[in-house]
Amino acid sequence: MKIRESTESERKEILNIHNQAFGKDKGPEIAKLVDDLLSDETAMPLLSLVAVENNKLIGHILYTKAVVTQTARSISAHILAPLAILPQEQKKGIGVKLINEGLRLLKASGTELVFVLGHPTYYPRCGFIPAGEQGFEAPYPIPEEHAGAWMIQELNGDVLAYNSGKIQCSEVLNEPQHWRE
Ligand SMILES: CC(C)(COP(=O)(O)OP(=O)(O)OC[C@H]1O[C@@H](n2cnc3c(N)ncnc32)[C@H](O)[C@@H]1OP(=O)(O)O)[C@@H](O)C(=O)NCCC(=O)NCCS
Repeated sequence: MKIRESTESERKEILNIHNQAFGKDKGPEIAKLVDDLLSDETAMPLLSLVAVENNKLIGHILYTKAVVTQTARSISAHILAPLAILPQEQKKGIGVKLINEGLRLLKASGTELVFVLGHPTYYPRCGFIPAGEQGFEAPYPIPEEHAGAWMIQELNGDVLAYNSGKIQCSEVLNEPQHWRE
């Protein structure tokens, strides 16, 4: 299994991964989100990685640019969304490998903070911690019972010790329907 940046010609195959992984209910909506994000100027620079086995794409992860507002200084940030592994390839460690390779590349390119809204038992295994407690607000309020799903990770700098702020995502990801659950 290899992990590398995706190419434009792979877009259809990538959307298919999300369609399958998220199932009938959410698949089409998430595939459209990915399609829109890949063309969203305000999401750049983005990082789109694929897991490839035997020339077949089996997993995809997207990190898009985020802006930290209401903060004392400019902070370089990305948000992880979404991540999907083909159903038959899940639970083999591919998701964690995609997350970690993305974090490694973002760290090398100077990104300071990475955010994710996701399963609070999954992402901590890749170093994420609750973001609210660190003083970083999501674009829309996260209900108290789901507070642990809004997470952050510091890759560079000493940001968490001295800063707080509110996250604004790319135009596409900042739409309220993507923050409803
Ligand atoms: C969630 C997902 C990306 C995980 O990828 P994966 O390659 O199967 O995960 P890994 O093999 O790296 O890790 C497996 C571990 O994650 C756990 N895990 C898988 N899905 C999970 C979920 N929805 N919530 C919490 N933990 C989950 C497994 O139980 C397993 O735990 P274990 O190591 O203690 O046995 C994949 O299952 C998927 O594509 N799911 C559908 C789409 C989705 O929900 N995406 C994430 C949106 S936040």
